[in-house]
Amino acid sequence: MTTVAIVYYSGYGHTKKLAEAVQLGANDAETKATLYAISQEGELNESELTEISKADAIIYGTPTYMAGPAWQFKKFADATSKIWFMSQWKDKVAAGFTNSASTNGDKGQTLNYLFTFAQQHGQIWVGLGLLPSNTKAHSSKDINWSGGSIGVMGISPSDASPEEAPHNGDIEAAKALGKRVAEITKKLHV
Ligand SMILES: Cc1cc2nc3c(=O)[nH]c(=O)nc-3n(C[C@H](O)[C@H](O)[C@H](O)COP(=O)(O)O)c2cc1C
Repeated sequence: MTTVAIVYYSGYGHTKKLAEAVQLGANDAETKATLYAISQEGELNESELTEISKADAIIYGTPTYMAGPAWQFKKFADATSKIWFMSQWKDKVAAGFTNSASTNGDKGQTLNYLFTFAQQHGQIWVGLGLLPSNTKAHSSKDINWSGGSIGVMGISPSDASPEEAPHNGDIEAAKALGKRVAEITKKLHV
């Protein structure tokens, strides 16, 4: 069985919707994807960290807060320094997703942070691998309508509930990212 850990923080539930979509996309007959939610205090327990360290792939998710990851995600990232020192996550597949209120909202900074964090760990980054849905005919219903390439860039307008946003195009991109990570991880583990 290929195992995928999805480690994410969500303050108000919007990024959680993306995490659940990534899990849905990754799960198949030969892949088990598990969600690990970082708490409001920025914590994961030791047994969760041990499980994550056993996974074949780790996908990171955080909302964009003030042009970067939420501090809770950064606290988790800092807590992996011992894992980094031991190169325990080296060669594990990695990918990332974020979500913010504005169309741009500086979310590129967050994805670049997640990418660089994964590179510090020596992981193998899997990008989105999707063309953008960016013609006049396209709308937020269409996959990768926000045009991400490093990872999923979800958009949740500031007054939208998690039931309303991220929109279908972001949810579909998140499912596609989970599926791609599972498929590539399986190829690497034959
Ligand atoms: C402290 C804070 C900082 C934020 N900074 C940004 C930002 O830099 N860019 C942006 O577009 N949205 C920003 N937002 C909006 C959030 O990214 C947006 O509400 C997102 O959907 C929250 O995801 P969550 O429900 O998973 O916490 C910020 C929200 C908060 C609470």
